[in-house]
Amino acid sequence: MQFELSEEHLMIQKAARDFAQNELKPGVIERDEHQKFPAAQIKQLGELGFLGMMVSQKYGGSGMDTISYVLAMEEISKVDASASVVMSVNNSLVCWGLENFGSEEQKQKYLVPLAKGEVIGAFCLSEPEAGSDATSQHTTAIDAGDHYVLNGTKNWITNGSTATYYLVMAQTYPEKKSKGINAFILEKGMPGFTVGPKENKLGIRGSDTHSLMFSDVKVPKANRIGEDGFGFKFAMKTLTGGRIGIASQALGIASGAYELALAYSKERKAFGKTISQHQAIQFKLADMATEIDAARLLCLKAAWLKDQHLDYGLASSMAKLFSSRVAMETTVEAVQIHGGYGFVKEFHVERLMRDAKITQIYEGTSEVQKIVISRSILA
Ligand code: CAA
Repeated sequence: MQFELSEEHLMIQKAARDFAQNELKPGVIERDEHQKFPAAQIKQLGELGFLGMMVSQKYGGSGMDTISYVLAMEEISKVDASASVVMSVNNSLVCWGLENFGSEEQKQKYLVPLAKGEVIGAFCLSEPEAGSDATSQHTTAIDAGDHYVLNGTKNWITNGSTATYYLVMAQTYPEKKSKGINAFILEKGMPGFTVGPKENKLGIRGSDTHSLMFSDVKVPKANRIGEDGFGFKFAMKTLTGGRIGIASQALGIASGAYELALAYSKERKAFGKTISQHQAIQFKLADMATEIDAARLLCLKAAWLKDQHLDYGLASSMAKLFSSRVAMETTVEAVQIHGGYGFVKEFHVERLMRDAKITQIYEGTSEVQKIVISRSILA
């Protein structure tokens, strides 16, 4: 076992860090305040190969490993979690799902532009009455010969209006429950497919979250992913890797807040010395640093298992459960260390605290991660 990053990993980490500091940091407060999607920065991320990091070069991707992805996600998320959720969904859910389960035709048509970052994708599983209970899909996909007819509503869809391609889960055989669900590729502009208003969110406000409505949308059979009835397994397998991305996002939010708090504590003076010289602050910083390191190790372990083609379901849920808790706790402490300054936008930590909360909710709540973990350890 060795804990050293390779030269290549360090280069990717540096490239992501430079991009975050130089391109994402300016304007991040305004984008959050005005709910402005970081369109120009997402385009740049695509050009740098960060939107199809793990996709093989044959399909327009960067051909990197999952460790590289964790490192890049952490650096981007330190600065702008609204940008990193776009990156995470496109990489882990959309591109990974298509590369691993799509047909050759689907890969050529959809994966290549997604992996190159020419367009972005969305992953559409959640519904008004199917969040954690993802089996209860009410969106229907009726088999009509050479096509399916989709009807229903999806909720809280990241990249809802900015995506070009959408992976949509829908129920074809309700009596078969999870085995009756199919996954489809939909294109923006298909007749009957409409995007609802943008959600006004607590955090990741620069990201683009919408409901989607399907009214008799005709989807060609060629756009079904995998065998008939594979949709739920497709969603679960894809989300298992997605949780490594969100765990890394949470890690980045935590480490971004910690770095700001550490720097501030060395500048701010109170009672005749810097606050970093007060043991009350030192103990907070010690806890933050320890927890962040533990979260990072869990993220990297899950990534390593995935890269070794070993079972990573337990590890990815543990990484997400723990990192998202660390993100929440660390950002609250970072605001506390900043005192009154932490409560205003200019110092970034209040935004990171608001952004942290979603990491305990999306791609499976903390409770869902505990279901996955407890099932695994009790099996
Ligand atoms: N890999 C492969 N197969 C899996 C699997 C996995 N990780 N998890 C479950 N399955 C299979 C099971 O083996 C089972 O198949 P069989 O019947 O052949 O044995 C089938 O799927 C049904 O599984 P369960 O009986 O375990 O299903 P369940 O109803 O008990 O649900 C759950 C389990 C873990 C709670 C699941 O519903 C779940 O993960 N819910 C959370 C959904 C979620 O994460 N939503 C996020 C939305 S996407 C998002 O947030 C993206 C974004 O915008 C950022």
